[in-house]
Parts: sequence; structure tokens; C-alpha cells
Amino acid sequence: MSVPPRNLTLHLPDEAATEALARQFAPLVGGAGGLPAGGRIHLQGDLGAGKTAFTRALLRACGIQGRIKSPSYALLESYKVSNLYFYHFDFYRFSDPREWLDAGFRDLLRDDAVVLIEWPERAEGLLPPPDMQISLAYAGPGRDATLTAHTARGQTWLNAIVPTPQAPSPPAAPSADA
Ligand SMILES: Nc1ncnc2c1ncn2[C@@H]1O[C@H](COP(=O)(O)OP(=O)(O)O)[C@@H](O)[C@H]1O
Ligand SMILES: [Mg+2]
Repeated sequence: MSVPPRNLTLHLPDEAATEALARQFAPLVGGAGGLPAGGRIHLQGDLGAGKTAFTRALLRACGIQGRIKSPSYALLESYKVSNLYFYHFDFYRFSDPREWLDAGFRDLLRDDAVVLIEWPERAEGLLPPPDMQISLAYAGPGRDATLTAHTARGQTWLNAIVPTPQAPSPPAAPSADA
């Protein structure tokens, strides 16, 4: 169901803040509290704005283990945890809509999968509106994130996001994808 867009802008002073915001999405897309699992998130912003950093932290918080590669060359990396599918797209190098159709990507935009798309504007016209768009912009040494809900599911997520900065998290364990 389409609803009027609603916005929330947050300042993310450092990468830990980006990751803390991403972690807030894990229970929302993972089906906690009776929400249907799945949903589509579009990530916009310049190179280095933090789209992949956000996605990695979200996938990690959803239980994905091992290396989480950026799909810059492959266009798509996919994962499965329990019965939930995760599709991480990056359309930075996307040029030909036939690529999209030939690869059967359209079939992956299911409501019961978690779909994260970097550079969605490069596949404009091929993508339905996401549940939520997250725009990341450079703001001093940090970033500003603007969250826009485009569906009822996205509004539910937006209402659940805590805008205040989280307490600093403890140092992360060394990980393979550093
Ligand atoms: N809120 C933030 N403030 C400052 N630096 C950040 C923040 N979030 C992420 N970063 C850093 O910015 C870079 C983002 O890179 P990446 O996630 O690959 O960007 P993108 O996928 O948008 O091109 C990383 O070096 C990361 O450490
Ligand atoms: Mg990226």
C-alpha cells in the first residue's frame, strides 16, 4: 500500500553511529514483534557515504556470518539465514536494463525477502518504490542520514527508529571483512 512519504533526518557523527542505526533495522526486517519479515531499502549517497557500511552492519546484525562482500562488480550478493533471504544489490556499474531482465533480478524483489539496494537511481524505472529510502550525505567529518518511508511497512519502521545517539558500543571483534 502506498502512503505519503515521511521523513526523519539523523546526524551520524562516526561509523559507529552508522552501524548503530543499521542494527536498529535488524529486528524490523527480521520479523521481530509480529512484523512480517522482509522489506526493501534503497541506499543513496555519494561514493564513500556509507551505503555498504550500513548494509554490512545490518546483515551482520541479522546473523550473517563470514565475509560480506560489496557487490560492486557482481551487482548482487545474496544470503540466507533460517528461511529469510537477503539480497544486496549495488547498481553503481549497472548500464543495461537487459542485464536486469536476463539475470532474473525482478523475481528477487519479493515482500518476504530483505532487499538492500545501493545506487537504485541507476536502475530507475526497473524498481518499485522501496519501503524505505535512506539518503546518506557528508556532513563535516560525519554523515547525515535522511530516512523516508514510502509504504505502511516503512512507516512502521520509521516509528520504531530511536533518533537519539546510542551509547558507544564496545570495540568490535576483529572480522574477516576489514
Ligand atoms: N557516520 C559516519 N561518519 C564518518 N565516516 C563514516 C560514517 N559512516 C561510515 N563512514 C566511513 O565512510 C566510508 C563508507 O564507505 P562505504 O560504506 O564503502 O561507502 P559507499 O558504499 O556509500 O560507497 C567507510 O570508510 C566508513 O568507515
Ligand atoms: Mg558501496
